[in-house]
Amino acid sequence: MPGPDRFQTLDNVDVAQKRVLVRADLNVPLESGIVRDATRIERIAPTLLELAEQGAIVIVLSHLGRPKGTVVPSMSLAPVAGPLSVALDHPVKFVVTDWTDGEAARAVTKARHGDILLMENTRFHPGEETNQPAFVKTLMDLGDIYVNDAFSAAHRAHASTEGLAWFLPSVAGRAMEKEMAALHAALDAPQRPLTAVIGGAKISTKLDMIGHLCCKVDTLIIGGGMANTFLHAQGHPIGRSLAEHDMAEHALEILEHAESEGCKIVLPLDVVVAEDFKPHAHARTVSIQEVTDKEMILDVGPGTVEAIGKIFDNSKTLVWNGPLGAFELPPFDAGTLGAARKAAELSKAGKLRSVAGGGDTVAALNLAGLADDFTYVSTAGGAFLEWLEGKTLPGVKVLEQCGARALK
Ligand code: 3PG
Repeated sequence: MPGPDRFQTLDNVDVAQKRVLVRADLNVPLESGIVRDATRIERIAPTLLELAEQGAIVIVLSHLGRPKGTVVPSMSLAPVAGPLSVALDHPVKFVVTDWTDGEAARAVTKARHGDILLMENTRFHPGEETNQPAFVKTLMDLGDIYVNDAFSAAHRAHASTEGLAWFLPSVAGRAMEKEMAALHAALDAPQRPLTAVIGGAKISTKLDMIGHLCCKVDTLIIGGGMANTFLHAQGHPIGRSLAEHDMAEHALEILEHAESEGCKIVLPLDVVVAEDFKPHAHARTVSIQEVTDKEMILDVGPGTVEAIGKIFDNSKTLVWNGPLGAFELPPFDAGTLGAARKAAELSKAGKLRSVAGGGDTVAALNLAGLADDFTYVSTAGGAFLEWLEGKTLPGVKVLEQCGARALK
């Protein structure tokens, strides 16, 4: 992740009287046309208002869902225009277009400085996902400056997230700037000790992440279903727990690799088990040696939460992705919530810099009302995971390259 000095921002461009294309991520959850979570809309507001106040014509580009290059009415961005206008306290004109009818260009020609236009879903055109030069040109012709404010879509090399940046002066918006600064401070230039928590069902989907984190962090806490695979590999009984038995060898290799990198891996010490996975199922807390054949491990136990709390007490930086147990079903949310409360408390007191991200993690923090107490909560799903894997995100890389070009 480039440091904040490696790319250009809104501070480096004069946008007055210019047409500014802003790539936002308005891929928000919709239910019967109602926006169910407006966090992404709220995060984009500072950039759009700053541009409008400086007299730019602001042209907002985003995808919604995966319409695969055709017009899918249920994936229209039209229902987002109202909530966006409310969040901005500024009118937003929604532009209906299939991207081949010239409506986008006509709307921009008619717009006045200070206006904010929200264009229809860029993925309605097949050239968006293929980063097709002709579609990049269609977008490019609409603006004078490109602002990328969509970290959560930066793992896609699409026309509006990557292609466009090569052809216009390109800068990071305020949300992107904040996100990159938070992530850079968390993994690339952290205050140590640095701890990471990862959870989730399977290690097979998080091998790259674990490998990358082992090289970066001092302590790696593993919870969720993936911890069962490690416990099984170490010879502990896991009953009917979710686990990848064929990954046992791999799990032992990971433990060895971590040790050689000087990274301490922390696995559950005690666990909450039940015979059924249903709300308020009869559950008991046992040590990791005491799981019976009929039981499933569904959460970490209080002893583990206490141990995690002590690790947090001694950490300066924390990166968190994935719940520690089956948090969607009480009482199996207790481990995740207990550890998250401790991280929130230390962060609020200024003792810990905490960064969390990924769909389930953010849902768990929101559910517990703890998201605001973390130092930074990323709204990114896939992009956050790829960042944790140490991958280069095309939308970020191009900004860095354009920044370096402009700085020469
Ligand atoms: C997300 O919600 O993670 C981003 O908007 C990216 O969406 P995608 O996975 O459909 O590209």
